[in-house]
Amino acid sequence: MKERILIGLDLGSSHIRVAVGQVCFNADKQNSLNIIGVVEVPSKGISKGCISSLEDAVTSVSNALEQAERLVGVPIQDAYVGIGGTHIGSGQAKGVIGVSRPDGDIRAEDVARALESARAFINPANQEILHVLPREFSVDGQGGIKDPIGMQGIRLEAEVQVIQGLLSHIRNITKTVFRTGVDVNELVYAPLAAVETVTQPKFRELGVGVLVVGATTTGLAVYEDGELLYATTLPMGGDHITSDIAIGLRVSLDVAEDIKRVCGHAVPGEVDRRQQIDLKDFGADQSEVVSVQYISEIIEARVEELYEKVDEQLKKIGRAGLLPAGMMLTGGGAKLPGMVEVAKRVLQLPCTVGFANVQTPMPELVLDPRFSTSVGLVLWGHNAEQNDSTVARKNWFGENKKFSQALNKITEPIKRIFKSFMP
Ligand SMILES: Nc1ncnc2c1ncn2[C@@H]1O[C@H](COP(=O)(O)OP(=O)(O)OP(=O)(O)O)[C@@H](O)[C@H]1O
Ligand SMILES: [Mg+2]
Repeated sequence: MKERILIGLDLGSSHIRVAVGQVCFNADKQNSLNIIGVVEVPSKGISKGCISSLEDAVTSVSNALEQAERLVGVPIQDAYVGIGGTHIGSGQAKGVIGVSRPDGDIRAEDVARALESARAFINPANQEILHVLPREFSVDGQGGIKDPIGMQGIRLEAEVQVIQGLLSHIRNITKTVFRTGVDVNELVYAPLAAVETVTQPKFRELGVGVLVVGATTTGLAVYEDGELLYATTLPMGGDHITSDIAIGLRVSLDVAEDIKRVCGHAVPGEVDRRQQIDLKDFGADQSEVVSVQYISEIIEARVEELYEKVDEQLKKIGRAGLLPAGMMLTGGGAKLPGMVEVAKRVLQLPCTVGFANVQTPMPELVLDPRFSTSVGLVLWGHNAEQNDSTVARKNWFGENKKFSQALNKITEPIKRIFKSFMP
């Protein structure tokens, strides 16, 4: 039985996370994916999805990958890498081509050319395209076609959703990963990776939103008719709640983070009115008794503001209160009690914390919302490698693989020399 190790690398502002998937192929070429483990290390040099210090980021990513290597027992060569940040946005575009075969049979190459022509249409100089995702095709003016391969026609049009971000930020992410000696299989917009973990195709068909509440950012992806309708990243996350607590109680950020995790709740009405804490018990310099309900009111205000911003985005695309499968919450920030209740009230949608449907020997860790992006990257990689011909998932990075391999040749021996000095 053959196996392939798939690595999902999520570069977060608070933590770098790695998920390790093992794909086993049996004699009939059937395969099964098992998430054999996850690794998390504190992140340095990454802020709001962008690299703020290359050296620090390389050190953090190296640490995480080394821990993952110990888990798998073999060197990690490549990874599916998640990329976030408010500089990344989505927009719609159209590509048109003439069908190449004289008999009018539409083939995979025609679909690839139609998508490529859409890409050529919308590529401004300082932006890099991450994904060109087909929404629907038209053949000789007849729209609503999901898969035109094998159909007859002369003119093929592709309506696509394009995800692109600032070239410099994207290059810095790839440079960081290259410097650790690991090849990037594909750069994936992080909220789309989380979607793979927390939704099923039938939800995406009905209409669903996924909200990834991180430390400094919140990613939003909306699906309808099985395709991506809209994706964006808001510059607000769980750390803003921590800052509000720190300012409100006049304590340090570390103390505020501890208080949030131990007794934080986003719904003051659900907290016992008599419950009080002493700030000194959480590491504050001076003793001061504070009601937990007061802390909850601070949290509620920020959480409401976050969801109002999400609702504004939904209004922009005409889907406010109109997603039949509701909103799935995930990311570390979704672990705060009361997040779901406030989301239901502000967004007027069914809301729940989404969980992965994956095979794993350690469900209590792997299914934690904070790992949804890294696990989703493994699922994304698994899908992409299964449908190798899926043109939709090809991205610009394929063209740069030679560069990465050349760089690897240079960095690998250096990495080996360093490793030989390590205990
Ligand atoms: N148990 C918990 N209760 C409340 N909040 C939590 C809990 N665990 C994590 N968080 C919050 O989740 C946030 C971190 O989420 P996550 O680890 O998904 O972010 P990240 O991926 O590192 O950041 P980003 O995606 O913004 O770059 C922090 O603000 C943290 O306080
Ligand atoms: Mg994140």
